[in-house]
Amino acid sequence: MADPAVAALIAAGPTAADLADIQGLVYGAYSDHGWVGYVLARLDGGVARSRAWLRTIAGDVTSAVKQQRPSNGRTHVALSPTGIVALGYPLLDGLPQEARDGMWTRTRVLRDDPPDGWEFGAQTSQIDALVIVYARDQITRDQMVEARVAALVAAGAHLYPTQLSGPFTGREPFGFADGLAQPFVPGHSGAPREGQQTIAAGEVVLGYQNAYQQMPASPTLDGFDLGKNGTYLVFRKLRQDVAALWSWVETTAAAIGKDRAWLAAKLMGRWPSGASLAQTWLHDDPAFAAKAKIDAFYYDEENPPGPSRDPAGLHCPVASHVRRANPRDARDGTPDDSLGVVAKHRIVRRGRPFGPPAPADPATPDTAERGLYFICLQASIARGFEFIQQTWLGNHGFHGLYQEVDPVMGNAANTTCITIPAEPFRYRLKDVPDVVHVLGGGYFLLPAKAALAKLAGG
Ligand code: HEM
Repeated sequence: MADPAVAALIAAGPTAADLADIQGLVYGAYSDHGWVGYVLARLDGGVARSRAWLRTIAGDVTSAVKQQRPSNGRTHVALSPTGIVALGYPLLDGLPQEARDGMWTRTRVLRDDPPDGWEFGAQTSQIDALVIVYARDQITRDQMVEARVAALVAAGAHLYPTQLSGPFTGREPFGFADGLAQPFVPGHSGAPREGQQTIAAGEVVLGYQNAYQQMPASPTLDGFDLGKNGTYLVFRKLRQDVAALWSWVETTAAAIGKDRAWLAAKLMGRWPSGASLAQTWLHDDPAFAAKAKIDAFYYDEENPPGPSRDPAGLHCPVASHVRRANPRDARDGTPDDSLGVVAKHRIVRRGRPFGPPAPADPATPDTAERGLYFICLQASIARGFEFIQQTWLGNHGFHGLYQEVDPVMGNAANTTCITIPAEPFRYRLKDVPDVVHVLGGGYFLLPAKAALAKLAGG
């Protein structure tokens, strides 16, 4: 029988009618749509033309109902607070401070370098609208991008270079399976997988109770709840220096007499196939990367199969990317306390890589520009993306560690260390290179379809 607490969370979530309003990106990663275009624009054409543009595209936006039907082509629209102003509205009541500030002003919170040299999203290159199109093939993706660009140009918008991703192989450029661990957000037609954490709908979708049993703050316009069935979207272009990471891994692994695959997995916390080190710690085992097992583990509690309780991180280091990004039951206090805290800091990730697919052996150096369009969705950017980036990934003293930050979060500022627990002695490896750099980004509202119609003046 289903856990009553989980059943209650699911019952309190969006209904079928709400799903027709919510943008489908909330519930679908579209892994069958391997080609993506990100169109970034500043709405310079004036209120009337910008609203007319929004009216046209709003009807094409893929809802969470349509997202479940087969098709070739998905369209999503996100607006930043400056975009809402460009549409002729005052800065909305109920918009959280971090959204008003914008990503580029939050460098101290995010432990970023200053946004000098960003390709877009800094003070002088503000993004008002982000249109995302997904297609199953390159030709369709290119046609969709062309149509969206033409509509924006006709509306007098300023366009930044379109960002393209595809084909999607399921791996990020360092060579690891990506997009695997996600919270279960009520409203989804399926059921949570074994170990997958069901969170309150209001942790991701506005208009529902969150983990504090409160309604998330929601932006309003003339008494209309513009947040209802919407969410906040973080977009961040991250360049990955694949050669630098693997060169350090090769040299360091050789120096301590270990295999390079072992060391790379210790940094990430999962093997390239996606199998967690908490489940299979001696070698990669794609059987554990199967969907049913992908989240079926904890770090503190006993873990089937075998004696794999791992509070000290002997299998999956506390310092690894995935254990910092989601400490599961091993943060502090009892496992239930820890899971309760973690449930307040979950995000839905929808990232896609850029650049050519990584070579079969990711350690083969080439000079291609590669990286990740990191996207995450949450009802509070401060409690979601910013908290994870600052308090877990970027925290020098995370969970008893000393002077080290996440190996893949980006902008580590200085070279850092990583501690890998082992017996009889741990390894403390120095000079982990700074391999991820922010090239631009922004904070957006991903409004529901009714809210888009309202903003379009309809
Ligand atoms: C280029 C930068 C990054 C790379 C290469 C990367 C790569 C990965 C990989 C390979 C996984 C494991 C597979 C999976 O569960 O999807 C993962 C998990 C995760 N990452 Fe990242 N990531 C990056 C940046 C970030 C950032 C900036 C954040 C948030 C601020 C983040 C948050 C997470 C979270 C929450 C998980 C899931 C952990 C879990 O629930 O077990 N990542 N990442």
